[in-house]
Amino acid sequence: MTGSEELAERDRALAAAHAAVAAAAPRAAADPRRPAYHFVPPAQWMNDPNGTVYHNGWHHLFYQHHPYSDRWAAMHWGHARSRDMVHWEHLPIALWPSLSRGEEHCFSGCAVIDDAGLPRIFYTSIAANRDPQHWLALGDADLITWEKPAENPILTLADHGGLVADDWRDPCVFREGGTWYMVIGGHVRGEKGCVFLYRSADLVRWEFVGIPFRGEQGNWECPNLFRLGDKWVLFVSPHNAPYYWVGDLDLAACRFTPLAEGTLDAGDGYAPTTLLDGRGRRVLFGWARNWPEAPAGEQPYGWSGCMTLPRVLSLDATNHLVQTPLPELATLRGPRQAIAPRTLKAGEMIRLDGLAGRELELEIDLELTGEGASAGLRLLAGSDGAGGVELTFRPGVIELAGRATPRFDAAASRRVTMRVFVDRSVVEVYAEGYPCVTRVAARLSPGDQSHFLRAQGSASVHRLEAWAMRPA
Ligand code: FRU
Repeated sequence: MTGSEELAERDRALAAAHAAVAAAAPRAAADPRRPAYHFVPPAQWMNDPNGTVYHNGWHHLFYQHHPYSDRWAAMHWGHARSRDMVHWEHLPIALWPSLSRGEEHCFSGCAVIDDAGLPRIFYTSIAANRDPQHWLALGDADLITWEKPAENPILTLADHGGLVADDWRDPCVFREGGTWYMVIGGHVRGEKGCVFLYRSADLVRWEFVGIPFRGEQGNWECPNLFRLGDKWVLFVSPHNAPYYWVGDLDLAACRFTPLAEGTLDAGDGYAPTTLLDGRGRRVLFGWARNWPEAPAGEQPYGWSGCMTLPRVLSLDATNHLVQTPLPELATLRGPRQAIAPRTLKAGEMIRLDGLAGRELELEIDLELTGEGASAGLRLLAGSDGAGGVELTFRPGVIELAGRATPRFDAAASRRVTMRVFVDRSVVEVYAEGYPCVTRVAARLSPGDQSHFLRAQGSASVHRLEAWAMRPA
């Protein structure tokens, strides 16, 4: 196929994909379960965030996208950009499977800006009749229009000497000491999950360096490797809760040495990736997964999936990763509502009248005062307290909708301050000393918008503040 035929194929593929998304958009927009201030595509399926990069004043967010239905299939890359990472502008779909080249999916990957200031995407190209390959796409200065150059593939399984890599996918490229590096996830056949390391001088010719780190889980998806302060952070998504290590990286020796580790999201957050913003902040985006599908025989919902809120990363004194909701999210807050400090008796459940609504941020400082007590909130319940999402604090453990997350240091502390983001059918909880927990609760009835304080044992609420959140 000549270059112009390929561009014509691209234009046809993207026009059809955009028409399919536009046709589903009214239905998606009318669904009262769809999050209002978390990032969602215009319609149809999304999964992993991809290619997050800051360039010329814009934060770019790409994502795994199926434009033709609200189920996973034929992976494209959706695209949006934002000045503040809170309000997003949808842009044309960036990557499409090149069917004429046998490509079926453009799997996850990353974007970097090269030395000439031009954007480049790296992704895993999946085809039925060959092994996975890594491909490069070249973008225009605004990252809107993409081409797949003749140099592709830029990496194949044959580039590993005798070693056989399985589930080899999801490249993450970074620059260090004047050299470009890439990590790719997967595992050596018959072995556990690992990251494969490569290097390049020109972003086109890549050389396999080795395996800097391996783990205990069967496979690792979506690796991310980046500097944070004077340490390096490695993320992996091992099919269950995404995990991180903080440590030292010796690129010359191809060795990552961990100092601390932990869970990135104990709930439905998955496949997180990051960008370095214009202010030098390292910001995480993840996919909130596990959305229900429409029951058989009913009309499809026309959408599935959202991003987690953007989270600013830092390290605590023990080298654990601290995730803080992006401060700019406060621009979505309506007037502050405060509930007077109070005590709760064992077994008490109190409706927070005046706090109804399905788009909220809450901050609660809670102390357990009784023996073996637990207490917390029941969110998005009926006015009689039925249903809802349970957020429970017991000594040293936060539990959201059945997903428990212990403190980093395993201390049985009896007091906690939690920031809770409620967005229709997704809830995120942040607390100092604990991993984040995101839960998708899309089976709730949209009419259920009451929130309750609830105590299994006696407790004190030292502070409770809330804000209605405006749609983004
Ligand atoms: C993670 C993942 C990636 C893959 C992509 C496909 O959710 O399985 O490993 O590239 O999704 O959509």
